[in-house]
Amino acid sequence: QHYVERDIEKILLSKEEIAIRVKELGEQISKDYEGKDLIAVGILRGSVVFFSDLMREIKIPMEIDFMAVSSYGQGSKSTGSVRIKYDMQEDIRGKHLLIIEDIIDSGWTLHNLLEQLRGRKPESIELCCLLNKPDRREVEVPVKYIGFDIPDEFVVGYGLDYASKYRNYEHVGILKRSVYE
Ligand code: PRP
Ligand code: MN
Ligand code: MG
Repeated sequence: QHYVERDIEKILLSKEEIAIRVKELGEQISKDYEGKDLIAVGILRGSVVFFSDLMREIKIPMEIDFMAVSSYGQGSKSTGSVRIKYDMQEDIRGKHLLIIEDIIDSGWTLHNLLEQLRGRKPESIELCCLLNKPDRREVEVPVKYIGFDIPDEFVVGYGLDYASKYRNYEHVGILKRSVYE
């Protein structure tokens, strides 16, 4: 029998540590958006675990929605070059949009997505990422809410994948090199 845990080198962030930080973020967001028309949009698929935990720590009335995008990444640096594979269902005009991501790495996905979503005229747009890898950034992106800054390690779990697997691992862990080498 093969368990995902055996492919993990070490736990970088335990589910308990994550839960504490997610609660803090939820409290902050609840304060910042009190009395505002908030819509949180999760970017599939990596954000789903973070999203479902975070939304329950936000204590004000809100809407949720989802998008799936594929970034052309560093291959194409022209602005707005993100392909929308699945679009949100709600109209965001006049609403306060909060984009929820699991991780910001090069920054291209969020940079390009921001460009596109600004055109839909929301009242405001902010970004919320559980993890930030500052060492990998290629383009500056203004992320208002960050859970943790992490080193440039191969992390999986809590929604993050390697080759589409390990998203179901409960902690954020560093993958064993033998798995991808
Ligand atoms: C990952 C991650 C972010 C993005 C960050 O998604 O979930 O969305 O890459 O990378 P960047 O800052 O370099 O653009 P991925 O494209 O792997 O899709 P997934 O969420 O379905 O795993
Ligand atoms: Mn993603
Ligand atoms: Mg991925």
